[in-house]
This record gives sequence, C-alpha cells and structure tokens, in this order.
Amino acid sequence: MSGSIISIHNVSKVFPKRSSQDVSVLANIDLSLRENEIVCLLGTSGSGKSTLLRIMAGLIKPSSGHVFWHGQPVHGPIPGVSMVFQTFALLPWLTVLENVELGLEAMGHLSVSERREKALAAIDVVGMGGFESAYPKELSGGMSQRVGFARAIVVEPDVLLMDEAFSALDVLTAESLRNDLIDLWVSQKTKLKSILMVTHNIQEAAYMADRILIFGSNPGRIMADLKVDMSYDRDQEQPKFIQLVDSIYHHITQASESFSRIGGRLKPVDLHFRLPQVDVSTLIGLVETLHSEAASQVVEISELAEELHLDLDELFPIIESLQVLRFAQLKSGRVELTFAGKLFADATLLDQKRVFARQLLDYLPIVRHIHKQLNEKGKSIHQSEILSILRQKLSDNVALEVLKTVIEWSRYAEIFAFDVNTGHISLDNPEESDQSASETT
Ligand SMILES: Nc1ncnc2c1ncn2[C@@H]1O[C@H](COP(=O)(O)OP(=O)(O)OP(=O)(O)O)[C@@H](O)[C@H]1O
Ligand SMILES: [Mg+2]
Repeated sequence: MSGSIISIHNVSKVFPKRSSQDVSVLANIDLSLRENEIVCLLGTSGSGKSTLLRIMAGLIKPSSGHVFWHGQPVHGPIPGVSMVFQTFALLPWLTVLENVELGLEAMGHLSVSERREKALAAIDVVGMGGFESAYPKELSGGMSQRVGFARAIVVEPDVLLMDEAFSALDVLTAESLRNDLIDLWVSQKTKLKSILMVTHNIQEAAYMADRILIFGSNPGRIMADLKVDMSYDRDQEQPKFIQLVDSIYHHITQASESFSRIGGRLKPVDLHFRLPQVDVSTLIGLVETLHSEAASQVVEISELAEELHLDLDELFPIIESLQVLRFAQLKSGRVELTFAGKLFADATLLDQKRVFARQLLDYLPIVRHIHKQLNEKGKSIHQSEILSILRQKLSDNVALEVLKTVIEWSRYAEIFAFDVNTGHISLDNPEESDQSASETT
C-alpha cells in the first residue's frame, strides 16, 4: 500500500498453554500505519493491545499472518521503530545524558562525540535541557517519562509506538506531555513519520489522533476505524470535539453490543467466560445510580462516564458485568436497566441478595456448575477444581482473577461459602455450622 510504513496482514496471535487449549489473543488483524498520521488504538484492558504493538515492532512473531516494513517482510526487531512504555526503566546509576546515550548503543557506528551531540539534542527536544547531569532519583514521574521519550527519539526513528505512555502520570503532567508531543509532531522537530499509540482514555484519543481504531476483545480485533478530521488546535469544549467524543462512545458501545448479542438478544456466556474484575459494591452502586437517574432509567453512556468520572477502562467492565447478569443492557449508546435491574434496585438488602443469587445461577454457568457440584457431592470442593476448569481456556492469572470474582459475587449472594485458609468452597452457611459446632460442645 502506498505511503504505508508498517502494515500487518491477517495477523493472529495464540499463546500456547501447557496443559490445555491455547489462548487466542488476536484474530485476523489487518492494519496499515501510514505516513503523517497519529493513530490511537483504543481498547479495554487485556484485549491484546500490547501484544499487537510488540508484533508491529517485530519484537514477537505473530502465530499467523505477516508484518511488513515499507513493503518488506519483517523477521525481527525493526530498527526504525522505537517504543515508549507506561513507565520507563531508567538506569538509576546513570545520569539523564548517559541514559539517553544508552539508547544509541545499538547504533554502533557512532563516535563518542556524535553520540553526545545526538543525546543532548534529544534531551533538548523533550524539554529536559538543564537536567543532563541529574540522576533518575532526582526526577519526577513526568520528567522520567520525558527522558524515556528522549531515549526513544534519539535514534531518529520513523515510527513511535506508545503503550499507554501517559497513563501512569497525574492529569496535569499527562496533559503537558501530550501537548509537547503534539508540538513536536506539528513542528516536525523530529524525523518521526508516524505514531501509533495505545490508550484506554477516550479524551486522549480524541485529542491526539488523526485516526482512531476501536479494539474489541476476546480475541482482540479492530471493530471500527474512525478518521478524525480536525487540526491540532483542539479544544475539549469545541462542539466538534464533543461530537467526536460522542461518536467514539457510540462506536465502542456498538462494538460491545454486536459482540454481546445474537439476533437482537443478549448472548449467553459460557463456562470459561472471562468475567470482568468488578467488585459487588461497584455493581450495586451502578444499578442504584441508573435507577436514580431520570424516570426512564435510560442513560447515555457518555453522560454516565462523565458524571461518574470514569474512563472507558473503568466503566465498561462494570456495564459488561451488568449485562452478563442481565441487570442492564446497552442499546444505541445508552444503558438501560432491565426488569431484574429495577427489581434489584428497589429491593431490601435481603431481597437484593436473593435477586443477585438468581441472576448468578441463571446467567453464569461457572456459578451454576459449582452450585451443582456442591449439591451432588454434599460437602465442599476445593478451589483448585474450579481453577483447573477455568484454566482450560484462560491463562493462569486470568483464571485466578475470574475465580476471585466468582467467589466474591457468590459469597455476597450467599450461594456458597469460602474458606480462604483451606481454599474450600462449601454450601455451609458459616453461621449455621458455628451454631451446630456450639451445640455439640
Ligand atoms: N507471553 C504471554 N503468554 C501468555 N499469555 C499472554 C502473554 N502475553 C500476553 N498474554 C495474554 O494475552 C492477553 C492480552 O494481553 P495484552 O498485554 O496484549 O493486553 P492489553 O490490551 O495490552 O492489556 P492492558 O490494557 O492490561 O495492558 C492477556 O490475556 C494476557 O494474559
Ligand atoms: Mg497493555
């Protein structure tokens, strides 16, 4: 493709598992990074964004499909690509200047003075002039991140791949770093031809991107490709900017709706469903918030995010959980409580637990499975049994996270009890067993 710097064709990535079915992380991805564009990849946690970036940098191989650099197949790390991560591992015993020079080590042909000159120039470009002889411990988070950027651009790459480069910074620092990067880009102070940045912050994507790719999960794939037609004097209050943010929300909700529905109905989840890590009080909180909204109990998702000060990565798992449990559903960018959701919100605490238990047993096969096992076996089962089921399709740490959520939700619903010391899940209501224990003494 003309003007395309990195392109990937039909790329999939499967991570092999020792004991069971492999984990499919990316599926059939086509993507071209072209000259003169900043592309934002917007997606939820665990959707495979970092994996995709590593594949595009030539750091890991796709399981199938091809990666091209200026039209040539890629077989290893691409020298013209630099990466910036959430936090930069600067070497504490080296000064800022030495840390940046380290980035040049791969370019073996440079003389000492050439190195120094390039490093000093890169440090100036990121606004860290004056800190050349400082040590990392003297720097704030924002300053360290600037040094990280200097180390990435000192090699004069064509492409910068940024993996949530602003997400570990406080709001103001992140904003100033974003603006400085845009200035660098617009003034062409570097040789960068293209930037691909991963984020889960919608505002950030709207602020920085020429093109926004909305990434779906399980397995990761591109659900929408939005062209942003705005110059870089963007203002978050501008009607065009607000429209853009709305349209991003709209596409994200559409993506998650189409994923969670078949023929207009919500799709049931399976035994190995990767349950989002959301705690019960957050779920209850959102149901009650939705219930207290305008009489219709239909809320625009962008308004909700703003009202609750949540970003995509925080709000979507909660809504997804509510959808899985059929407490709410998404329709054209709006969240709507279902009958069960309204019932739950209106119920007393005890009834809330009953409604919650009903939904868990009806809609979460893993909870139903545990409940059935306990009823059949009559006593307790060990958590490792459930873990081994989850591990058939989930990676070890995801399986653990899912189990933790399943246990927390089910304990709240009083479906079963859990003994953290022994790892046993049982039907016993601890109060009853305490009572029977005291009766026998
Ligand atoms: N080397 C690996 N071996 C096995 N599984 C892996 C490996 N690397 C990543 N995964 C799994 O692939 C999935 C996607 O991971 P990845 O880090 O690419 O997601 P992400 O979108 O960047 O997430 P986050 O927003 O949390 O950074 C996760 O389920 C992760 O556990
Ligand atoms: Mg990541």
